[in-house]
Amino acid sequence: MGRKVTKAIFPVAGLGTRFLPATKSIPKEILSLVDKPLIQYAIDEARAAGIEEFIFVTSRGKGALEDYFDHAHELESSLRKSGKDKLLETLRATNMDSGAIAYIRQHKALGLGHAVWCARRLLQEDEPFAVVLTDDVIQGEPPCLQQMIEAYEETGGSMVATMEVPTEKVSSYGVLDVAEDMGAIVRAKGMVEKPAAGTQPSNLAVIGRYILAPTVMQNLNKLKQGAGGEIQLTDAIADEIAEGRDVFGLRFRGQRFDCGSKAGFLQATVAFGLERDDLKDEFAEYLSDVMAMRRAAE
Ligand code: G1P
Repeated sequence: MGRKVTKAIFPVAGLGTRFLPATKSIPKEILSLVDKPLIQYAIDEARAAGIEEFIFVTSRGKGALEDYFDHAHELESSLRKSGKDKLLETLRATNMDSGAIAYIRQHKALGLGHAVWCARRLLQEDEPFAVVLTDDVIQGEPPCLQQMIEAYEETGGSMVATMEVPTEKVSSYGVLDVAEDMGAIVRAKGMVEKPAAGTQPSNLAVIGRYILAPTVMQNLNKLKQGAGGEIQLTDAIADEIAEGRDVFGLRFRGQRFDCGSKAGFLQATVAFGLERDDLKDEFAEYLSDVMAMRRAAE
């Protein structure tokens, strides 16, 4: 078994232009599904998987994201005084240990691989690490990153989350070239970032959860430009395969929402709303009324 994975990198430097004007003054990672910001879903998933150190790769204008992780002492004491224990508990669940979060700036938007590389000095040379993309929100039990850590403890090497996507969507993703399909786990013999339509090696797309061998960070040192002129994480993982090291994909159990797109964000809002005991009855009734009205109007 390899070394335990205790650090995760969260690349959060993106401008979030797809969500303008909302993202004019707040980072997209603060946008909320029901009442919880996207970043909190990512953190909760990482914590459940045993991550202890959280590295945010940020950019200009992400101040609200840093503030979000401060302890809200005044708010906590006013909730305590007014006996709002449940809210107090909700708030406290977002508190992070002192020193558990580090912020690193990505000074220029040079790609996901570059964002991850910006965190290199916060990792030891022989340390495997996780990468979590907050746009990909995954409903799953156990949570996706935990499933990956469990699988990684058996396989070693590097591991990406993967799922089958429709052919017309494949070119939006990193895509696996499969050497061996073992069911839940596949061994990759290649990986391509955003293949041109018709050239994809499979329909198995990389979803934003990674457990990476320390050598992936070394591969990123080359700062090689890939698809779209950007420094791609996918290419640094593909280099592992080229150099004879193992890369696996895990078909995780769970439902993934692409919260980098508006449609995906809305779908996630519905799914998480329907999961909430305090909302589900009223919300489900509303949704079925809306659907009935739509059908009647057709
Ligand atoms: C990134 C990765 C891509 C991966 C995707 C998953 O792409 O580069 O390999 O498939 O996340 O969401 P982006 O969505 O940032 O274009």
